[in-house]
Amino acid sequence: MTIVGNVQTIDGLIVDVITTIVEKPPINSILLMNDNPEVLLRVIAYQDKYLAKCINLTGSNKIYRGAKIITQNKGLTIPVGDEIIGHVFDPLGKSIDVDDSQFAQSSQVDVFSEIKPDKKYRNQDNEIVETGIKVIDFFTPFVKGRKIGIIGGAGVGKTVLTTEIMHNIGNKKDHLTYFVGIGERMREGHELFNTLSEKKLLDSTVMYMGQMNENAALRSMVGLTAARSARYFRDKKKKNILFFIDNIYRHVQANNELSSMVGELPAEGGYQPSMYSDLKKLMEQLDSNDNGAITTVQSVFIPSDDLSDPAVVEISQQLDAVIVLSRSVFESGILPAVDLLQTNSSLISEEIVGKTHYDLVNRVKAILQKYESLKGIIAVIGESELSQDDRSDYHLAQKLIEYFKQSMFVTEDLSGTPGQYVSRENNLKSIAEIITSEVNNGI
Ligand SMILES: Nc1ncnc2c1ncn2[C@@H]1O[C@H](COP(=O)(O)OP(=O)(O)OP(=O)(O)O)[C@@H](O)[C@H]1O
Ligand SMILES: [Mg+2]
Repeated sequence: MTIVGNVQTIDGLIVDVITTIVEKPPINSILLMNDNPEVLLRVIAYQDKYLAKCINLTGSNKIYRGAKIITQNKGLTIPVGDEIIGHVFDPLGKSIDVDDSQFAQSSQVDVFSEIKPDKKYRNQDNEIVETGIKVIDFFTPFVKGRKIGIIGGAGVGKTVLTTEIMHNIGNKKDHLTYFVGIGERMREGHELFNTLSEKKLLDSTVMYMGQMNENAALRSMVGLTAARSARYFRDKKKKNILFFIDNIYRHVQANNELSSMVGELPAEGGYQPSMYSDLKKLMEQLDSNDNGAITTVQSVFIPSDDLSDPAVVEISQQLDAVIVLSRSVFESGILPAVDLLQTNSSLISEEIVGKTHYDLVNRVKAILQKYESLKGIIAVIGESELSQDDRSDYHLAQKLIEYFKQSMFVTEDLSGTPGQYVSRENNLKSIAEIITSEVNNGI
């Protein structure tokens, strides 16, 4: 234990500490209050040689001006190891569902220590992870080690779809599932825990929760905490990881709150100047190497349903594929409410999905594109004025839209309709059949 100095000012979560030692605690090191070691401060910057700007991680109001500050010369460590599987943790790595003493002997990893991305590693196996959800497996197939987004405005089905994917792929062999709740409703965490427990998926899941009831400092770090924990299993236990985040937009938002607390001037759209690096720091931790792959599924909230929001654009650019959920589709009663044309994947290539799948996606997208323009024409002149070919394509698009509707296992209790799982092979066969039958009918 070393004495660092004293608290000079407190402004919300920001605490300025005057340091009195020559060797300054490095950025990201953890300081404690001498008379109450529960109070944790994280050094985020040095304003001048002596003044350390810190964030009060625990948000504790026990801190006061003049309080003596110490360091244990270590970062923020969290427990890891097989014993954490099946449990729920807060952003500081404290257990939520069971007594913490259970993890007293566990190995520890440091949440904020430097990582070196493995630049040499190239993901070559392109293994497709089947989700059993028709619209996803067709338009945005999951590929091991890649990053997929589910983006949409408030209440259009991001959480339902994320949970359904966890349900369908959460028991994959040699895999461990991570779920990270960032800035969403606390209740949803409980519901997810119960769903996973009912479906016997807890044995292969670890959860980290930094929901909307937590302060911005905790919400901004929970993704990093979980990523560090997942990397331990990837590297030390050679596990492949399925890493779910609901919701990555809240990670940006929490960092934005911190940025305004330290008085930074906002940049484009009111977001923090460091938005890109705040995201990058998390995204680059979710990488793969020869030990194992991290495949991530992240839901993205769209403020005011505006797809051009700078944070949404930035997040989308760091993902390999995006499933776009739309309010108008949701309101027309189509579930999952996927906007088939906006949904886009850089992983649709002959090399990754094979020629049959690749050709089918192009064909279906062309039909759907035509459908959009025909809808406009029909509104003006009526369907009967369309040529035979156009009418046949129009009906074909309607059949395809209908086909991609699917009931979910996780909403069975709510809707009364049993969930449906469709294999990739049957999915492609059915889509090809719809297209050929309509073409034949048209002749
Ligand atoms: N695929 C679906 N099948 C059945 N019901 C659905 C589906 N998607 C959404 N719903 C219904 O819509 C509601 C809202 O969905 P959900 O909570 O997933 O939205 P969200 O996009 O996560 O919202 P928020 O932005 O508030 O987090 C659900 O509670 C459910 O009733
Ligand atoms: Mg949600």
